[in-house]
Amino acid sequence: MNSPKVVVEGLCKVFGTNPKQATSMLAGGATKEEVFARTGQIVGVHNVSFEVKEGEIFVLMGLSGSGKSTLIRLINRLVEPTAGKVLIDGRDVASVPRPELTALRRKDMSMVFQSFALMPQRTVLSNAAFGLEVAGVGKKERERRAMTVLEQVGLAPFAEKLPAQLSGGMQQRVGLARALAVNPSLMIMDEAFSALDPLKRKEMQNVLLDLQREQQRTILFVSHDLEEALRIGTRIAIMEGGKVVQIGTPQEIITNPADDYVRAFFEGIDTSRYLTAGDLMQTDAVPLMHSHTTQIDASSVAATLNGHADYAFVLDGERRIRGFVCRDTTGGASPRLNAVECIRRSTPLDDVVQRVVASRAPLPVVEADGSYCGSVNKTNVLNVLTRHRGSHV
Ligand SMILES: Nc1ncnc2c1ncn2[C@@H]1O[C@H](COP(=O)(O)OP(=O)(O)OP(=O)(O)O)[C@@H](O)[C@H]1O
Ligand SMILES: [Mg+2]
Repeated sequence: MNSPKVVVEGLCKVFGTNPKQATSMLAGGATKEEVFARTGQIVGVHNVSFEVKEGEIFVLMGLSGSGKSTLIRLINRLVEPTAGKVLIDGRDVASVPRPELTALRRKDMSMVFQSFALMPQRTVLSNAAFGLEVAGVGKKERERRAMTVLEQVGLAPFAEKLPAQLSGGMQQRVGLARALAVNPSLMIMDEAFSALDPLKRKEMQNVLLDLQREQQRTILFVSHDLEEALRIGTRIAIMEGGKVVQIGTPQEIITNPADDYVRAFFEGIDTSRYLTAGDLMQTDAVPLMHSHTTQIDASSVAATLNGHADYAFVLDGERRIRGFVCRDTTGGASPRLNAVECIRRSTPLDDVVQRVVASRAPLPVVEADGSYCGSVNKTNVLNVLTRHRGSHV
């Protein structure tokens, strides 16, 4: 197992002159609003802990003022914590001396913001190369590297243009290229795509996902948009009033929202689109029978069906599906082994629906290595569709 890229432990930030009073109120269960009403202190972040793994896109999501930006500023130490600590690559950020911290931010933590702050008098290429210039990389080398990332974000033909000659979406891509050019081990993106219209935004998400497929970076991504979080997040942390209320994969959050605050983000979103066969399968609905031989004997089928089941899956010694057996027309156990197509656990819901609707029997769901993990039938599909789509149409 890789060690985590970022570890955040009990991190707190109170803005104001008397953070102690605020933290003791918080420890006693007071909310951010109560603390403010009584003390005038503003809770930015309260007792947040999580780990960001190497190579994942970790999304911080929450309403305006929930503490997302403060949290990332605590991570790159633009803001000093009231309590708690941040480790990057196992190193306590608080112990890094100032000059080294500047270098660390420059080299290992690239930031991309909503306002991309390009320099208007410089060309696209020169803007993309800026981070490298600051880091002292020679002109030829930095322009070569900047050109490579401009190609990656599809802007190579515009290298000699000025930012004003580009659309907003293209300018944002220059911002992304500038961050990528320094080849940071951690990218921090605060509402990087929020100012773009929905189409451009989706396009940028795709650029990011494509890049991520080629070179798995660790990305800390702030967004207030659940759909964006679901599309790009490996895991999502949902923040409310300075606290993290839930951390999970998109599927975990959709299938098991922690509370009404989390559920409210689902409003108007077809969350079922983000579910897979693994999210709706049942693990004990269909009886299992183990057999390695081609001969299947009717009495063991009868024992497996045990009087009430209509189907049983037949597995080999490695838990791979060989087929299914069922009752015959007279209601007795038939020893005939029928072929069945398996569904991969990661198959998206829309494909699962098509396959299940076309099949009379429940279908087996298998892991990537082909081993059996559960089954899906029409009822499972209908349940998930009514639960996730019914309330939002
Ligand atoms: N420098 C500061 N001084 C005082 N209060 C601050 C400061 N920075 C942030 N806050 C407060 O901390 C809380 C969290 O703010 P933060 O900017 O982290 O929220 P956010 O989740 O990023 O919101 P948004 O989605 O609007 O960007 C807010 O109540 C904010 O008013
Ligand atoms: Mg913010």
